[in-house]
Amino acid sequence: MTKVAIWCRHKDDNIIGIGPNIPWHIKSDFQRFRRITEGQNIVAGQTTYESFPNRTLPNRNIYVLTLEKDYTTSDPEHHFVVNDINFFKDFEQDIYISGGASIYKLFMTGGPNLMPDIVVDCVYMGELNPNLKGKEVAITDCINVLNEKYSQVMPNFELDNIATRVLIRKGEFIEQSVLKRIILEITQF
Ligand SMILES: NC(=O)c1ccc[n+]([C@@H]2O[C@H](COP(=O)([O-])OP(=O)(O)OC[C@H]3O[C@@H](n4cnc5c(N)ncnc54)[C@H](OP(=O)(O)O)[C@@H]3O)[C@@H](O)[C@H]2O)c1
Repeated sequence: MTKVAIWCRHKDDNIIGIGPNIPWHIKSDFQRFRRITEGQNIVAGQTTYESFPNRTLPNRNIYVLTLEKDYTTSDPEHHFVVNDINFFKDFEQDIYISGGASIYKLFMTGGPNLMPDIVVDCVYMGELNPNLKGKEVAITDCINVLNEKYSQVMPNFELDNIATRVLIRKGEFIEQSVLKRIILEITQF
């Protein structure tokens, strides 16, 4: 029942993507994402889902948000199509919100039953890949909500030019076992 958002954004401009791509390639960033989400349920927008290699991520159930009623996934046993964000209001298992920008925004601004309980906020301090073409995708709206409604629960953890923060929703009950596991996955690299 815990909702966790996890992203990596570029410092200052909050860019998370250019076109369909993440504009940096840091191995430990992918590893951190894998360690936190492996064995879990994740939710991704259709654009992000299509950008996963072979439209999959091993050892995870993927809920794909799309308005297309007849959208088909690469693995119907483990990947599920969701047409309405409200599906997650009463979701009974933990869910890891994994982008892209439109999906982070739907959850972060979606009211008390959608807002993540925990946010893993990774900030990349290097340069963006200058060779990518396409629209810059940023999550500034989400960072404004984060700054107002969340508080940081561990010091920044820095690795490979990425500073990772963990924040929880102010005034809400947080499942400590989930929080503890996430912090361990981040700090015990
Ligand atoms: N750095 C990171 O941490 C990170 C993580 C993930 C993604 N990204 C990047 O983020 C970018 C993609 O973000 P994005 O915002 O363009 O796309 P997205 O959020 O991945 O997917 C957008 C799609 O989600 C579906 N959708 C949106 N709102 C919906 C709603 N209310 N109900 C049902 N479905 C809905 C729509 O699919 P249909 O058009 O099929 O209806 C929409 O086209 C890429 O560059 C990706 O690499 C970065």
